[in-house]
Amino acid sequence: MEISIVASHAENGVLNGSLGIPCHFDKGFEVFKRVTSCSPVVIGEELFRTLVNRGPSSFECRLFIVLTKNEIRDSVPESFPPVCTFSTVSDILRFVYQQSFPEVFVAGGGDVYSSFLPLATKMHITLVRENSIGADYFVDWDESSWKTVIGKRIFGDWEYLLYERV
Ligand SMILES: NC(=O)c1ccc[n+]([C@@H]2O[C@H](COP(=O)([O-])OP(=O)(O)OC[C@H]3O[C@@H](n4cnc5c(N)ncnc54)[C@H](OP(=O)(O)O)[C@@H]3O)[C@@H](O)[C@H]2O)c1
Repeated sequence: MEISIVASHAENGVLNGSLGIPCHFDKGFEVFKRVTSCSPVVIGEELFRTLVNRGPSSFECRLFIVLTKNEIRDSVPESFPPVCTFSTVSDILRFVYQQSFPEVFVAGGGDVYSSFLPLATKMHITLVRENSIGADYFVDWDESSWKTVIGKRIFGDWEYLLYERV
């Protein structure tokens, strides 16, 4: 089973979602939609709230797996894709394995990336080649453990990088 990180961040690691970059400018959001289509996607409780509050979006054909120690308190709109919750990483991986999904995507935020990165086999990173100011950072990772499979400019200062664990 592949465990794939999907993240979008600035040169200095600041996660783009925390910068208030509108998602239609965020090329990472386009990559997210392309690579996670029809797959399970793990997100933290904060990011889940952000997506629900953003209103109708084109997230269909995904199963959102929310990592939280709590119950989801608020109602989830009918237009939102299916959601399930788990309180530990191991419970999520057991569920994904039992459901025979070949791949699970991990879409943040910061703590969720930290929890899954040691287990991840791929990383889809959309990088904007500028430094930014923000509160949320992508997790530090050891470049010697990863090889670049794809590295290409996709728009302006935006690059898409696909890494696989060595
Ligand atoms: N650019 C990008 O690619 C990207 C991607 C994702 C997020 N973001 C940005 O990052 C920010 C949100 O990230 P965040 O780090 O603040 O929040 P988050 O990771 O979305 O959610 C944090 C919550 O998730 C739960 N959680 C996280 N790790 C857990 C673990 N190991 N076990 C159990 N529960 C766990 C906890 O919820 P409970 O307190 O309910 O237990 C925790 O309070 C937003 O600004 C968002 O836009 C950007």
